[in-house]
This record gives sequence, C-alpha cells and structure tokens, in this order.
Amino acid sequence: MKTHQFVVVGGGLAGLSAAIEAKKRGIDVALISKVHPVRSHSGAAQGGINAALANAEGGKDDSPDRHAYDTIKGSDFLADQDAVKIMTDAAPGVIFRMEHAGCPFSRTPEGKIAQRPFGGAGYPRTCYGTDKTGHYLLQTLFEQAVKHNVTFYSEWFVTKLVVRDGRCQGVICFDLESGDFIPVGASATMFATGGSGRVYSTNTTNAHTSTGLGVSLAYWAGVPIKDFEFVQFHPTGLYPSSILMTEGCRGEGGYLINNKGERFMKNYVSEKIMELAPRDITSRAIQTEINQGRGFEDAYVHLDLRHLGEAKIMERLPGIRDLSMSFVNVDPIKEPIPVRPSQHYTMGGIDTNEKTETEIQGFYAAGECACASVHGANRLGGNSLLDTIVFGEIGGGVVSEYLPNAPSPAEKVMNDALAEEEVRFQSLSKGSGNENAYQLKNELSAVMLERVGIFRNKKDMEMACQSVRNLKARFEKILPIKTNKKFNYDFLWVTEIAGNLDAAQMVAEGAVAREESRGAHFRTDFPKRNDQEWLKHTICRYTPDGPQLSYKAVKLGLYAPEERKY
Ligand code: FUM
Repeated sequence: MKTHQFVVVGGGLAGLSAAIEAKKRGIDVALISKVHPVRSHSGAAQGGINAALANAEGGKDDSPDRHAYDTIKGSDFLADQDAVKIMTDAAPGVIFRMEHAGCPFSRTPEGKIAQRPFGGAGYPRTCYGTDKTGHYLLQTLFEQAVKHNVTFYSEWFVTKLVVRDGRCQGVICFDLESGDFIPVGASATMFATGGSGRVYSTNTTNAHTSTGLGVSLAYWAGVPIKDFEFVQFHPTGLYPSSILMTEGCRGEGGYLINNKGERFMKNYVSEKIMELAPRDITSRAIQTEINQGRGFEDAYVHLDLRHLGEAKIMERLPGIRDLSMSFVNVDPIKEPIPVRPSQHYTMGGIDTNEKTETEIQGFYAAGECACASVHGANRLGGNSLLDTIVFGEIGGGVVSEYLPNAPSPAEKVMNDALAEEEVRFQSLSKGSGNENAYQLKNELSAVMLERVGIFRNKKDMEMACQSVRNLKARFEKILPIKTNKKFNYDFLWVTEIAGNLDAAQMVAEGAVAREESRGAHFRTDFPKRNDQEWLKHTICRYTPDGPQLSYKAVKLGLYAPEERKY
C-alpha cells in the first residue's frame, strides 16, 4: 500500500491547483490521473476564463459584484450565492497568478490582458489566450506542479473510493501499465475528476475521459450528488463531430444563421443581445430552428465568421479555423461553419460546500465533478475554468488545515477494499452472460440524447428512466472482459460504463421529478420556472434500487430571484 497525506484524483486544472496549493503549504501530495495530466479535458477549453478586470473597451464599469450578479442570473437563481461571491471576488487574483506563472494571455493594444464578451455577461469579461485558453492554463499549472514536486501517478485509474468507519481513507487504483491494483491510503482525498459528458457520447464536446466515473464512485461510496439533472448543451458543436466551436466565435462577433439567411436570435432575445444570450437560451433557439425546418439537412445551422475578416480570425480564432478545415473541410474565412447544440457541461456533481468539503470526513471535490454550486441550472461560458482554479486552490488550503489532526488510513481497511476490487475483476473476467457492454453504452447515449436532452417532457423521461433500469439489468449479464494484464482497457471501459449507467440514472430521475423549467432543464410540459416549489437543490443518494431523491435549500442572500430576461 502507498500512503500520502493528501491524494488528488484528476490532473486537470482543479486537481493541479489543489495539489500545488497543498504542496506550497508543506503537505505530502500525490496526484493520480488516468491520463497524463496535460491530456486532461481542461486543455480542450477554448474561449476563456472570466474575471472582472475591466480591461476591455466597454468593460470599464465591470466589478466582481457585477460578475456575481450575471452568474446568479445565468444560473436561473439556483446557484448558492455565497459560493458565487467567493468565486467572482477571487477571479482577478487567479488571472494575475496565472499570468505571473507564465500563462500567455492575449493582450490589448496597450499590453493589458485582453477580454472578450461572452454570453449572459454584462461586460466583456472573458480573459483569453487566442482560442486555446484551457491548453495554456493546463500547461502553466502542470509546470507549477512539477516545480513544486507533486508526486504523479499517471495512467493510474481509480476504481474505488474507500469510505469506512465514517471517513474517507483513500482510493484503490488500477495501474494500467502493470495491471496491478494498488491501494493508496490518505488522510484526505479530493476528487477533481471532471464532467460526465460521455453519457451523451454521440453528441458531446467532451473528451473520452469525461465519463463521470468519479461522480459514480463517490455516489457508490455513499456521498450525496447534487443537481445532476442540469446538463448544459453548448450552442455550437461542430456538425457532425461535436467538437467545440468556442463561444469566443460569437464573442468576436460571429453570427448564427438559419436556412433563410436570417440571424434568427432576434426572434428569441433582444436585438442588443442576439448571439450573446446565455447557452441554455441559445441552444434552445438553435434546436427550435432545426426542429421547425429552418436548419440545414434538418441537423445544423450556420456559424458565420466571414465578416470578421481573415486577420481577426487568424489572430483570435486560429484553432477554430484549423479544426473546421480539418474536420469538415470548411475554411471559416470563406464559408460558414455547420454547428448544432452539443452536450458540454455537467452543472451538478458531488455535493460540496463552498470549501470543497463533502458530508464525508476526509473527502473533498472540486471542478466539474463537484457542485459547490456556482453554476446552478445554467453555467455562463468562461466560468468553468475559473471554478476549477478557485475551488482547487481553496480545497488545497482547506485540506492543508484539516490534515495536522486528521486520522491516518487503516491498512486493514485499505487491504479489504483492495480484495473487493480484485474479486470484482475476477468476476468481470468470468462474465455472467451474453450482453455486450459497449452496445449497452451506445443504447444509453441514444436514449439520453433523445429523451433527456434540450427539450424534456414527462413521458420521454419516464421512458428514459425505464430504459436505464433495463440497461442496468442487462449490464449484470455482460460478456467476460479481457484478462490481459498490461493496458487492460476493456476492464477500464467496462468500469466506466457501470459509472455511465448510474450517472445517467441520476440525470433522468432528477429531471423527471423536477416539474418546472429552470436554466438548462427545459420541460415542454412545465415551461415556467416555479420558485414556490422548486427553488431547491436536488440530492441523489445511492440505493441498490436507484437514486433516492431529496431536496435542500438554495443559499440566497445577495440577489432575490427575478424573471430572467435578456
Ligand atoms: O465556448 C467555449 O469556449 C467554452 C467555454 C466554457 O465552456 O466555459
């Protein structure tokens, strides 16, 4: 067994931030990641990171409080307002720390950090490094983690969160290279395992690593999961691959056009806002155009950048041009890009407070797998990179203060958990029937996209719940997995699929129960927000028969809920 004071699972921005912060405070930290950290999905973030720096033309009156207001309104008032305020107050400091660590942000003509407008924001507030902001931040933080001597276990796949005797005692890992299970005991464990987008795998901007397994491991270990029904569809996924076409395209002035040649957003929001409406509204608008026959090939609309001109596209959106040319042979300097809404972000996650603490002693969560909740029912673009670094750093600090008096992991507990995982592997390798787990995964994604997508209703969602139950029953009868010791990706993916099934079940059951529309959760049978009954967070707790739902209050205090108009 390996033992560290603090184990962080996930090598993206949240995990790296937490590890660096704890290391700076003298803690022994290990970071476990199923891929090399610089391949984490944070690197796919393009358009930017929000902070009220007031650097841009038209942004001089911006402030952290205005950032907080836009975030809370964008969340359709489901966000916990104390956590939002912590995030928006911390934002300028985060940007300056990243800049001082070497992050190559784009610049204004006078040399300040450049900022562009993003949807739902009252001011141009999104700091960016061309259209590769996540990549730049990830490299910057990885360098810092190396500099601070964080211990890395890369290509180690966590298969179990060990919670015994009322506290978290570490994790069981599967080392892909050796094929060995390795218990890693710790007094404190943090999950920073990212989002769950691959539940919607045929139409998501998410990497293959964003399976939501971290959330399911926590759920299986008895940790409550919050607001999992709120799933963000980004308005502009490239058609048909769903690769992200950053909101920065519209922030720089790009248009959305239907098959009549119209900038149709004028029919959904004010002419002042147009393409810079929040993502929930813009995605519904695009999907409505497609559903009502005003799309192209009944599948997509156009994102038109041509009027921006070659110089601006090459300077601000070079990655978008590359992706568009490589994947659909469209040069956005000359032709519009085919786009459709694509699953992008998981607003819900492991239930934490504003300090990244969960209800389980010694277990913490930050980043997309967590729900503090700063995004509520709909996240604003540019707030997720911010969330990862702010709460990663906070978590690293909170854990460092907890550790001096924290109990150590018990060797027997960790060895028992190890034995359970070895038994699970053995039983998967014998198989129990003829079902193909990958086929089940394909069916799951199709059901979720069709029935628990952008537009939802009771009948569809009840059918989805039933389908997920059936798929889970069929998963109990899957074919034997491969037994090769080294790089046994079959074991890895079958474990991920088990997680996908429970993650999907939490989305569907939470969604069918919530009889209102709020943010990204839009019900055609309950089209209005209902604060009287539903201004509350959904909590899912694991039972063998499916999630047990309960509710808890939203923390208000700064801004009273009001009708959300743009
Ligand atoms: O559109 C984008 O560049 C994505 C940003 C985000 O999700 O925050």
